[in-house]
Amino acid sequence: MAYEIALIPGDGIGEEVLTAVRPLVDDLAASAGFGLDYTDLDWGSERYLAEGAMMPEDGIETLRSHDAILLGAVGHPDVPDHVTLHGLMLPIRKRLNQQVCKRPATLLEGVESPLRGYGGGDVDLVVFRENTEGEYADVGGREHRGFDHEVAVQSAVYTREGTETVVRAAFEAAADREGYLTNVTKSNAQAHGMVFWDDVVREVSEDYPGVDVERLLVDAAAMDFVRRPEEFDVVVASNLFGDVLTDLGAIVTGSLGLAPSANLALDGDAPSMFEPVHGSAPDIAGEGIANPLATVRSVAMLLDHLGESAAGTRLEDAVADQLADPDAPRTPDLGGDAGTDAVVAALRERL
Ligand code: NAD
Ligand code: IPM
Ligand code: MN
Repeated sequence: MAYEIALIPGDGIGEEVLTAVRPLVDDLAASAGFGLDYTDLDWGSERYLAEGAMMPEDGIETLRSHDAILLGAVGHPDVPDHVTLHGLMLPIRKRLNQQVCKRPATLLEGVESPLRGYGGGDVDLVVFRENTEGEYADVGGREHRGFDHEVAVQSAVYTREGTETVVRAAFEAAADREGYLTNVTKSNAQAHGMVFWDDVVREVSEDYPGVDVERLLVDAAAMDFVRRPEEFDVVVASNLFGDVLTDLGAIVTGSLGLAPSANLALDGDAPSMFEPVHGSAPDIAGEGIANPLATVRSVAMLLDHLGESAAGTRLEDAVADQLADPDAPRTPDLGGDAGTDAVVAALRERL
């Protein structure tokens, strides 16, 4: 049995961590009795600089035939971010209908939170982020460029189907976990889209009588991710709010370098995409010190998604063991002085 994986290392540390992690994943797959057949895709900013496009015109069609996509990161200091992201990652999420983005944040044993008094096991939450519309809808434009009356319009779009899909996924997760869901909106200021979102949450909640629903405005939620992160279980939020809250959730649980993510195409016709929450980190790219564990944990989510849960759990457990081991190498974001390769080598040995 071999799975077809589309591999897009991308830019900066995305490329570094995927290159480092790949042999470890192959070992794990071999020992678990399945194979991973990669399609290596050199899509990204270097391609853009050389050829004028982040990916080929038929790129999305190329991805469709795969079982899953593994992505490093996208973003280059010499190319505007809206060009790189609208040329590669955002079209994948949208055109493969990856409507649900699942981003767990768990404070593991041996990892220091910047929050005073928090230790391993104290924070364990998962954010369900709407992933193809909302504030990221490509609806709007710029007019009268260069004149005093220049205008820019950026509209948010909330469809019933898109909203209900992510809300339902969040309720399902909450029912499986602690039965506690926090709905994050900004319904006081945004009386159309966000009030609609709240209505959908209320309707869907009727199907889940065992799940308690808390409603929080996003500003208060940002504060409470710092003040009382231990109380969250499942959080559901719009595209932009989910984006912001997941960087916050990542640092509260130790580092952006530990945070995994899954972009799920729930209708099953298209592959889902797995990637770390972090970006290409130009500030440390090329130094060999990027934390590879966010990518490793994204691979664990990928394996789980493929139905190879035993291998996924083995990988996730090995990461937890390594972080709990005070003698194991760790990258500078976790207070260590080890490089990417040393962390991967130690994990490979542990596996
Ligand atoms: P970033 O996530 O790349 O970096 C933010 C900070 O976290 C930096 O200080 C970086 O050094 C640190 N960091 C991130 N990942 C790390 C890791 N694995 N190990 C150690 N430290 C890590 O965010 P940014 O600086 O705002 O964006 C840089 C570029 O990445 C931009 O072009 C942005 O558009 C892009 N970006 C892409 C993605 C993606 O592809 N999924 C996500 C976020 C940002
Ligand atoms: C993320 C990133 C992306 C997002 C950017 C790079 C467009 O920040 O995956 O969290 O906002 O979705
Ligand atoms: Mn982000």
